Amino acid sequence: MTQNLADTPRPLSAVATPAGEPSRWWRDAVIYQVYPRSFADANGDGMGDLPGVRSRLPYLRDLGVDAVWLSPFYASPQADAGYDVADYRAVDPMFGTLLDADALIRDAHELGLRIIVDLVPNHSSDQHEWFQRALREGPGSPLRERYHFRAGKGESGELPPNDWESIFGGPAWTRSTDPDGTPGDWYLHLFAPEQPDFNWDSPAVADEFRSILRFWLDMGVDGFRVDVAHGLVKAPGLPDLGSHDQLKLLGNDVMPFFDQDGVHEIYRAWRRILDEYPGERIAVAEAWTPTVERTANYVRPDELHQAFNFQYLGTAWDAAELRAVIDSSLAAMRPVDAPATWVLSNHDVTRHATRFANPPGGTQIRERGDRELGLRRARAATLLMLALPGSAYLYQGEELGLPDVTDLPDEVRQDPSFFRASGQDGFRDGCRVPIPWSGEAAPYGFGPVEGGPSWLPQPAEWAGLSVEAQTGDPTSTLELYRSALAIRRADPALGAGGELTWLPAPEGVLAFRRDSFLCLVNTTAEAVVFATEGRLLLSSTGQVEPGLLAPDSTSWWAV
Ligand code: NOJ
Repeated sequence: MTQNLADTPRPLSAVATPAGEPSRWWRDAVIYQVYPRSFADANGDGMGDLPGVRSRLPYLRDLGVDAVWLSPFYASPQADAGYDVADYRAVDPMFGTLLDADALIRDAHELGLRIIVDLVPNHSSDQHEWFQRALREGPGSPLRERYHFRAGKGESGELPPNDWESIFGGPAWTRSTDPDGTPGDWYLHLFAPEQPDFNWDSPAVADEFRSILRFWLDMGVDGFRVDVAHGLVKAPGLPDLGSHDQLKLLGNDVMPFFDQDGVHEIYRAWRRILDEYPGERIAVAEAWTPTVERTANYVRPDELHQAFNFQYLGTAWDAAELRAVIDSSLAAMRPVDAPATWVLSNHDVTRHATRFANPPGGTQIRERGDRELGLRRARAATLLMLALPGSAYLYQGEELGLPDVTDLPDEVRQDPSFFRASGQDGFRDGCRVPIPWSGEAAPYGFGPVEGGPSWLPQPAEWAGLSVEAQTGDPTSTLELYRSALAIRRADPALGAGGELTWLPAPEGVLAFRRDSFLCLVNTTAEAVVFATEGRLLLSSTGQVEPGLLAPDSTSWWAV
């Protein structure tokens, strides 16, 4: 299945860095997540694709981001929107070809953008050649060593081997059928049954992933986002959990299949490979750990470069809570000399414009809430995030102030956890609706033809939120992001810069300085009297009355 690029000259070089001087570019990079299914559809089939992404790269350059992280576009039956990979070295035809990926990487580099691709090492698709052979060859097949096959419990093996539950609902085990048609061993899948977990004790698995890394590094990618980075190693013997509370993808509990110390050896080996390549290639861990201190283990100097800060993503719009998580994040990263990262939205959580439109309630919200309030807070939260020391992640569409689509009809939903949890969970489709680019009618420039398809329906009010509608409007969220990113890029006090110094502030207000830069945040519903000083650089509310912080606002000042 693997495609061939025989005629393409390689390797591509990554974005040039000044000779001899590593830029350590990732330490303050703003990295924009593209969810390829929903970004731009060049061929009009209703599904986003790589040529679509490629055509919109100038938009991303002009927005002012440093790098683009692409969610999976590999050959996949799409049981979990591409996080079920059947061939790690092939592009799924619905997204294009390897030549399209190659062209995308080249164009991005020409525009000064770096490309980070998703790597899914915890599990493959059940359609992966190894898993199919393991099933076909039956018990005793050496291919079975590469996954977790176990005999069932009970008289005839009719019960799962342990009590683990899938993060998407239901048991984490599915019984296989032997080649003679009789029920056979069970296999482990922390996610959907179509996503069997690899056994990382198998040297063949480790070898294969080192080779996959090299394949994409040779293609010229600048780094990897490592899916479920905390899940690869399972506790020896796969011990029972002893509890039947349904697990959440976004949970922080200590589990025999999460955050086991053995994962770190894998990342040390990967770091050695990344360091062999010119141009400072990086990796960022998707690691849900109980504490920011445990997260810091993934970014020790000989491991990965960054880890997502999910503690920050999960924090309510509350000054005291925000300050606490900012302080603990910076403190946790200091001993390992890794940059802190900040993120408010991604393809697995309710968009922050909708989270903040509702009372605090975690990262999965199903209510529409108060849209105006949500957007006001989201704009303020973004300016706070972009003022913090370190690197920041943006999720496509947040620069348009998009809310989650909370009223998708059940029949269009595709999130596998929605079906496994009988419609009680699994609402991630709401943040995955294709984004609006232009025009008055769906698909709003997502696809080439007005009235053409989009794999999830877009709400009618999105015409007013399109890139076209917002461009040039100084009050728009898009122009706020453009201004913020331009200031962040130009001001040496921002980005990685120095640490921050908190200033005394009344309850509900955050005030901090970074050299000559001042950030003021009011998380309350009331205007707060506060001595503003210096020159206003940007405000989430547009105008600012001197000496007064508007409700739910952030302002940036040069002092
Ligand atoms: C985390 C990804 O972000 C999510 O979308 C996916 O469902 C799981 N990992 C399983 O790969």
